[in-house]
Amino acid sequence: MAGKKVIITGVPGVGKTSVITDTIQKLADDGVPYQSINFGTFMFEVAKAKGLVQDRDEMRKLGKDEQKALQREASQQIAKIDGNVIIDTHASVKTPSGFLPGLPEWVLRDLMPDVFVLVEADDDQILRRRMSDESRLRDIEGSRSIREHQEFNRAAAASYAMLTGCTVLYIENADFLLTLSVERLAAVLR
Ligand code: AP5
Repeated sequence: MAGKKVIITGVPGVGKTSVITDTIQKLADDGVPYQSINFGTFMFEVAKAKGLVQDRDEMRKLGKDEQKALQREASQQIAKIDGNVIIDTHASVKTPSGFLPGLPEWVLRDLMPDVFVLVEADDDQILRRRMSDESRLRDIEGSRSIREHQEFNRAAAASYAMLTGCTVLYIENADFLLTLSVERLAAVLR
């Protein structure tokens, strides 16, 4: 049975995984089941099996064509999953040679989302969250560069909507206001 397909994105450290985890719990409590799929994990399993990387944070440093091949394998596998699905991924990935679209046209054609969500926050709040997260190898960049990435993601989201007819929803995940972000997102996904 086909369900709702929701793509959730946001620059690293914005807190999208925190928003997704709490939203899924809230929706489950309300009797609306969703499963969360991490696009990067699908890519990572293939990349690791091929001996390309040992850590998920190394993937964005791979060559453009290698990343595109991994995206393709991930989207083809994820497209087969039924039911209400939240796909945790990136509108764009910052690579050494520039922004790589997270969802090029051939990936979108596999996924065909109903809703495209951008989780956003103030640039300096994202910078602080990255610096205090010791579990990951976060890129070190200034708040201006984080702003540029968030702006690029809005442009990418608009083009993804044009290609698929999905709606685009901005969710603000401000410091210590995670609950508000979760309520707003859950209200749309119910
Ligand atoms: P992925 O694992 O999705 O990497 P990521 O962006 O680093 O995502 P995280 O889930 O680690 O960070 P987050 O922003 O969700 O933050 P978190 O909730 O942890 O992807 C891994 C890799 O896969 C990518 O780098 C890329 O190479 C590849 N990839 C994935 N999709 C791809 C695609 N489509 N194409 C190509 N490559 C792709 O929160 C961060 C911190 O903030 C935590 O400490 C948390 O406690 C805190 N926090 C959260 N919310 C709040 C709040 N409201 N107030 C205060 N603190 C908060």
